[in-house]
Amino acid sequence: MEKSTVVPFKKIPLLQVAGLEKKFAGAPVLNGVNLMVDAGEIVVLMGPSGCGKSTLARCINFLIRPDAGRIYFDGRPVDELNHGELLAARRRIGFVFQHFNLVDRLTVLDNVMLGPALSGMERREAEELAYAALRRVKMAGHWRRRPAELSGGQKQRVGMARALAMHPDLMIWDEPTASLDPILVGEVLEVMEELALERHQAMLVITHELAFALRTADRLALMDAGRIVEEGKPGELLESPVSEIGKKYRNLFATSILPATDLLLPDKFVRISENGK
Ligand SMILES: Nc1ncnc2c1ncn2[C@@H]1O[C@H](COP(=O)(O)OP(=O)(O)OP(=O)(O)O)[C@@H](O)[C@H]1O
Ligand SMILES: [Mg+2]
Repeated sequence: MEKSTVVPFKKIPLLQVAGLEKKFAGAPVLNGVNLMVDAGEIVVLMGPSGCGKSTLARCINFLIRPDAGRIYFDGRPVDELNHGELLAARRRIGFVFQHFNLVDRLTVLDNVMLGPALSGMERREAEELAYAALRRVKMAGHWRRRPAELSGGQKQRVGMARALAMHPDLMIWDEPTASLDPILVGEVLEVMEELALERHQAMLVITHELAFALRTADRLALMDAGRIVEEGKPGELLESPVSEIGKKYRNLFATSILPATDLLLPDKFVRISENGK
């Protein structure tokens, strides 16, 4: 009997960025970025200020049009999507900003309901989604408040709930803890870690929080001068980096004031990786 030829199943990544380039006023900011994120995968993106991280995130979220290269979402090049398809794809990507971007005159609940309501959902249904999202970030008790009545950490958790309410397949976080004072960073990181470990959606997290990367990321991607220079499992990458920027992060990591047991491999890290998937 003839052997049948087995064609290996090739998984399509949820997001694929290929050769992305962008210049601002003639100055190159993205120099051929290649990056992939699989469904449910947690990828942390780190790099020095000005290396193009936010520009990359905005290209992925269709806020900036790249000059060259392509972005594929769920296997389809986004530049080929028509208006309706683009809106549908955008609804599948949640964005959490550094500066929260909440609407000041709306309550916490209305801020979180806004996305579902604008997408044409009935009020009751949108409200339910919003409550569920607020519960996930431990903010359901504050639904009546307005942003001015919240701490920075609480505002950011509402920002997360707003993105979660749309049940995105991919969440992009652009330095969600960068504008918080150090005491509030912890409460936001705690919720971020919980969400990451639930694996309900893929995450591309731009952050300088090395401990977060070590504990939750499947992959750490390092960016420098407009391209991804190195990627790998966070623990392994930080142990033996090959790029200049990787070596700088390793040194930072080595001199970190955080207890080494919290950062270095330990069972905590292993345990999380095992449970995570
Ligand atoms: N709309 C714009 N017009 C002109 N220049 C821009 C624009 N957006 C970003 N830039 C420039 O592009 C470069 C990369 O900016 P970007 O915000 O992507 O960096 P980043 O890696 O996110 O930095 P940070 O860590 O400080 O947030 C910077 O030099 C910035 O000044
Ligand atoms: Mg930025």
